[in-house]
Amino acid sequence: TVVVADTGDLDAIRQYQPQDCTTNPSLILKAASLSGYAHLLEEARAMGDVEAAIDFLTVRIGTELTKLVPGYVSTEVDARLSFDADAMVTKARHLIDLYSQQGVGKDRILIKLATTWEGVQAARVLEAEGIHCNLTLVFNLAQAIAAAQAGAYLLSPFVGRITDWYKKAEGKDSYPVDEDPGVKSVREIYHHFKSHGYETIVMGASFRSAEQVKALAGCDRLTVSPQLLGELAADEGKLERVLSPESATQTEPTLT
Ligand code: E4P
Repeated sequence: TVVVADTGDLDAIRQYQPQDCTTNPSLILKAASLSGYAHLLEEARAMGDVEAAIDFLTVRIGTELTKLVPGYVSTEVDARLSFDADAMVTKARHLIDLYSQQGVGKDRILIKLATTWEGVQAARVLEAEGIHCNLTLVFNLAQAIAAAQAGAYLLSPFVGRITDWYKKAEGKDSYPVDEDPGVKSVREIYHHFKSHGYETIVMGASFRSAEQVKALAGCDRLTVSPQLLGELAADEGKLERVLSPESATQTEPTLT
């Protein structure tokens, strides 16, 4: 399993040395409020245009992240565009242009798109242009298959949000990890993809506990918050070992 950090926090990236990192506008704003980015925040404020300021911060912080991770920085297209394929494509191209002005090639970026029907169509267009996409907010197998058939490079099936919904609907406080609906959803997608030969990378996301992360050890990639990476490292020593397929806590089926 490739470890990915779900953060724009440079210090956390330095500490955990993930292969890739994933961001979204709220993670970027959180990162921007850290002291190292004060000058960027000032510049963004002076722009006077909120959308341009968010794009500016996203790309400037994303650029710093590309210097620290060897792999990809996932950069999200604003979720408000999620039902307009043309707008998503335009925004993605704009972000890639802004990155190239910073000297960052499209080979370092994954454009993160919501897996709406329109997001899937946008991914098809972008992948054909050589802009790789991370299809996010994946809650079921049908969405995952649509994303893969459009040629998406990677998809992010969510764990925690599914678990949260089930907890509320079923009035439960927790689930044994093998019965956790979010964990089960990602396992179903992963096994379907491997047994049907889909090339799209499966990256589990939206974790609420270290136990959920460990239950999906063996998945292609897992994107994990610094807090949970800290818990995993403290528990087990080395992250690579924690997330190796052999340490997966589930019995059936195995994620290998
Ligand atoms: C990752 O790419 C996602 O942005 C993230 O894992 C979402 O997690 P959440 O359900 O905590 O928002």
